[in-house]
Amino acid sequence: MTMKFRVYEVLNGKNTTRATAKSIFLIPFTLLIIMIPLTLMRNSHESTPEISSVSATSLNNTELKQCNIFSGRWMHTHGETYYSNDTCHWIIDQQNCMKFGRPDREYLHWRWKPDECEVPLFNATQFLNLLRGKKLVFVGDSVGRNQMQSLLCLLSHVSEPEDVSHKYSSNVIYFKRYFYHEYNFTLANLWSPYFVRSTDADPKGHSYNSIMKLFLDEADEAWTSQVENFDIVIISSGQWFFRPILFYEEGQLVGCNKCGMENVTDLTHLYGYRKAFRTAFRAINNLERYKGLTFLRTFSPAHFEGGDWNKGGKCIRTRPFTKQEMQLDGYILDMYNTQMEELRDAQIEATKRGLEFLMMNTTEIMLLRPDGHPNNYGHSKDKNVTLNDCVHWCLPGPVDTWNEFLLYMLLDVENEAHYSSKLERVF
Ligand SMILES: *[C@@H]1O[C@H](CO)[C@@H](O)[C@H](O)[C@H]1NC(C)=O
Ligand SMILES: *[C@@H]1O[C@H](CO)[C@@H](O)[C@H](O)[C@H]1NC(C)=O
Ligand SMILES: *[C@@H]1O[C@H](CO)[C@@H](O)[C@H](O)[C@H]1NC(C)=O
Ligand SMILES: *[C@@H]1O[C@H](CO)[C@@H](O)[C@H](O)[C@H]1NC(C)=O
Ligand SMILES: *[C@@H]1O[C@H](CO)[C@@H](O)[C@H](O)[C@H]1NC(C)=O
Ligand SMILES: *[C@@H]1O[C@H](CO)[C@@H](O)[C@H](O)[C@H]1NC(C)=O
Ligand SMILES: *[C@@H]1O[C@H](CO)[C@@H](O)[C@H](O)[C@H]1NC(C)=O
Repeated sequence: MTMKFRVYEVLNGKNTTRATAKSIFLIPFTLLIIMIPLTLMRNSHESTPEISSVSATSLNNTELKQCNIFSGRWMHTHGETYYSNDTCHWIIDQQNCMKFGRPDREYLHWRWKPDECEVPLFNATQFLNLLRGKKLVFVGDSVGRNQMQSLLCLLSHVSEPEDVSHKYSSNVIYFKRYFYHEYNFTLANLWSPYFVRSTDADPKGHSYNSIMKLFLDEADEAWTSQVENFDIVIISSGQWFFRPILFYEEGQLVGCNKCGMENVTDLTHLYGYRKAFRTAFRAINNLERYKGLTFLRTFSPAHFEGGDWNKGGKCIRTRPFTKQEMQLDGYILDMYNTQMEELRDAQIEATKRGLEFLMMNTTEIMLLRPDGHPNNYGHSKDKNVTLNDCVHWCLPGPVDTWNEFLLYMLLDVENEAHYSSKLERVF
């Protein structure tokens, strides 16, 4: 079995460090790891489905019992991981920390414990039964794809899909589509790290630090032309917005991020981030045939310490932070708040036409997991890669929790649909 891949890491130049509690430095940057040819294997697996019990929650649900699953703590457990590098063949090398000899295992033994309830272990049978006949897509960047690959592994206990990407796109590297025949369930990702139309703007071509043009009011058709066919859309993005970018609106240059041009106002990455989400959410609300459920998976923080991403920064911790050690602040809080504000506006519009937008509030939770990244265990020792990956998440690892949240939230929506007619379109 072979897994071929190439890694492009695209990064930005400036060092902007911000102190957080206890002088831990987390550094904004752009690290774009793009998965290239992948020969993915299929296999059947032993079954380890897990418990579940449904309780009702939602962002704004006054009728049912409330539990904010995102408020809680990481609790040490002795439980087994859902899968390993030997049992799941969907783990790409970049996130295959086990395969490349990460020596510590502690990072696999923490579960998220909400203050007021439990998030049940992921039950693949339950997930697939719930999504029978449905289509789910991740829209955004490689961290979203990271979650999709976690989901492929979690589901592989029960069912393996057929890779049907080639039937839907000529770009089967960035646009993946998997079909679970037994469940008539489609799992896909649509590559669009900015959600809006983008082009290279560097005369020297695309590179780590090359400048891009973003057309902030033009949603990227790579995903808008597809999402109407999906029932569940999970949208997320982040690190790409830190690179040098020229911002265009109504076809006019309005400013930039880190372009270093005297005659162009630096509006910062937050300007682009806000406008890109605004355009993405509006595009969804304006899709006439779209009847899906939309999730925003909030900004996933990076954990470079001891230097910038390209200056020897690394993430070597082997334990989670406590909430006292690490608080949500600085640029990560700004990213989170920007998304939240745009989501709230979008929810108001969505409600008017009977759509629902939900928030998978993972920012603060993942901020506590500096131990969950590949660091330098995303490739073999003989590969000459000097940059550490403190952006993506090891598989298995804390990112599996996002899919526990996903199942929990979907069950909740299904449950809610019994009480209100507005969601019958999805369940
Ligand atoms: C998983 O879900 C299935 C179907 O809902 C159920 O029959 C099974 O008992 C569950 N497994 C566990 C361990 O709870
Ligand atoms: C939640 O829903 C209730 C009733 O449907 C509404 O009055 C309230 O404004 C909503 N809250 C938010 C934050 O949207
Ligand atoms: C998101 O979760 C954090 C805790 O992880 C909490 O402090 C924050 O209030 C949550 N945001 C919303 C809008 O629920
Ligand atoms: C899984 O990781 C172990 C080291 O932890 C390694 O010995 C083994 O070859 C890996 N298996 C696969 C299929 O890569
Ligand atoms: C499979 O699901 C699609 C919707 O995603 C539906 O149109 C189709 O009828 C289903 N096929 C079968 C055989 O149930
Ligand atoms: C800004 O200055 C550069 C030269 O430094 C020039 O090429 C560019 O056209 C100018 N842009 C605007 C918007 O004036
Ligand atoms: C790795 O890269 C460094 C610097 O680019 C170079 O000096 C060294 O020879 C390379 N090693 C291998 C094994 O390719």
